[in-house]
Amino acid sequence: MSASEQKSTTGPLALRGITKSFPGVRAVDNVSVDFYPGKIHALMGENGAGKSTVMKIITGIYQPDSGEMSFHGERLAPRSYRESLAMGIDIVHQEIQVVPEASVAENIMLDKLSLVSPGGRVNWRRLYEEASVFMQEVGLHLPPSTVVRQLSAAYKQLIQIARALAARATVILLDEPTSSLSLSESDNLFNLLDGLKQRGVTVIYVSHKIEEVYRIADSISVMRDGKLIGTRPRAELERNELVRMMIGRDLREQRIGSTKVSESKVVLKVEALSKAGKCTDISFELREGEILGFYGLIGAGRTEFARVLIGEDQADSGSVYVNGQKATIRRVSDALFRYKIGYVTENRKEEGLFLGESVLTNLTLLVWKRMRHPLTRYISRKKEEVAARKMVSELSVRARSLADLAANLSGGNQQKISIGRWLLADCDILIIDEPTVGVDVGAKEQIHQLIWNLARLERKAIILISSEMAEIIRLSSRILVFANQQIIGEVGRLDDEERSYAKVRDEIGNLLSAIH
Ligand SMILES: Nc1ncnc2c1ncn2[C@@H]1O[C@H](COP(=O)(O)OP(=O)(O)OP(=O)(O)O)[C@@H](O)[C@H]1O
Ligand SMILES: [Mg+2]
Repeated sequence: MSASEQKSTTGPLALRGITKSFPGVRAVDNVSVDFYPGKIHALMGENGAGKSTVMKIITGIYQPDSGEMSFHGERLAPRSYRESLAMGIDIVHQEIQVVPEASVAENIMLDKLSLVSPGGRVNWRRLYEEASVFMQEVGLHLPPSTVVRQLSAAYKQLIQIARALAARATVILLDEPTSSLSLSESDNLFNLLDGLKQRGVTVIYVSHKIEEVYRIADSISVMRDGKLIGTRPRAELERNELVRMMIGRDLREQRIGSTKVSESKVVLKVEALSKAGKCTDISFELREGEILGFYGLIGAGRTEFARVLIGEDQADSGSVYVNGQKATIRRVSDALFRYKIGYVTENRKEEGLFLGESVLTNLTLLVWKRMRHPLTRYISRKKEEVAARKMVSELSVRARSLADLAANLSGGNQQKISIGRWLLADCDILIIDEPTVGVDVGAKEQIHQLIWNLARLERKAIILISSEMAEIIRLSSRILVFANQQIIGEVGRLDDEERSYAKVRDEIGNLLSAIH
């Protein structure tokens, strides 16, 4: 093959001077970068740096204000996502985008329904068969006819990935695809990406997870404030340097201080709580000042249990005691207002935010009661703003003002808002589900610090659900390990200096391998 021929079939996807502004912010500022076939190119940077906007420009969802793009040496200027898809460029979005009422198979084959429906009648058997191939590839072990609505965020993310595979794209953009996947599912995805790479697919991969980027990426680009700070081959980029490029300073990965658990103050006692298909015989005690970790793989039943506990689902049997009194929790408002139990959902994109409302409203939604004037019951706008402003600064939310609509914030900043709301709420018991999924390294540190402060200084009792081993070991005083909707074991004494991270990790691993 001659050099010129090669150029026309395997040239890079090239961006030159791409710029895009939204009212009041230059989201992408003069970005030039090349993405090569058969390579995995990671795009990193803080929340709000402009990563998703770049991805949306490449896939025609947004048009740049200026700059040019080319693909295989030809001009690329998609005016819609449909156009980009027709050119073999597909995106797996950061926000989960599935059709909740449809089946898994229909979601995966969305663009191909016409192919499996000759004469306008859907051939269901063929639809399920073809979808099953892609489901197997991403590790979705479910009947293809399962309705998507009831599935967890992780499953929905896998469905989106399967859909991109089904589209047979030659350029695949993945915007934080592992944000709700467990370790083994992420592993599976990485193998899959390796396969795509061998087939010459161009992969552009946005992630906040440094570990996974070092594992899979060939090169890494970093964005900050809309600008491209630099692009390096992975092998030549030290991690410290990467972090410095992203946040402009070094990060101290120190152990968070130890918690001080009040052994005698059991604030929550759960006794043999069961709900068919969700959780079986869950019993534990939670004490004041404690951070109790819930670790487990996807489908282990941690979130399902939390939903039963807060009254989102009704338990079949078992009892709950709050501060020694038997509690009757029939709905979420009971949990929140009668027993001061809050739940920060893992499904923040779908359930957590009012996208059409301001940052201020989203943050203070739960604290109105507390901010009412005791006599006039009038909500102090000033108090509200002071509280919200403090939270915005503690979490470094990147918003121009408190009046900004939540919809216009970057994905990570939306996450911070929905967590911030609960940190402001007046709860004694807080269940926090996957708090740092999708937030950048600097913000993660701040969220860890905030959670720890809540337990240590404000004496809250916290249940921390996390699939990230490092996070759960770093913060928890004790860990309950979940599998098959049950508690299969406990790993305690995490404050003990003698016990290294590796030791705790092995203990958890042993518990899990006895089951799986
Ligand atoms: N539709 C929009 N309207 C107004 N502003 C927007 C819009 N989309 C993005 N922005 C702004 O553009 C900037 C870049 O956002 P972008 O979503 O690209 O960030 P990101 O790097 O993907 O962040 P994250 O890691 O949090 O997902 C942010 O300041 C964001 O608020
Ligand atoms: Mg984004």
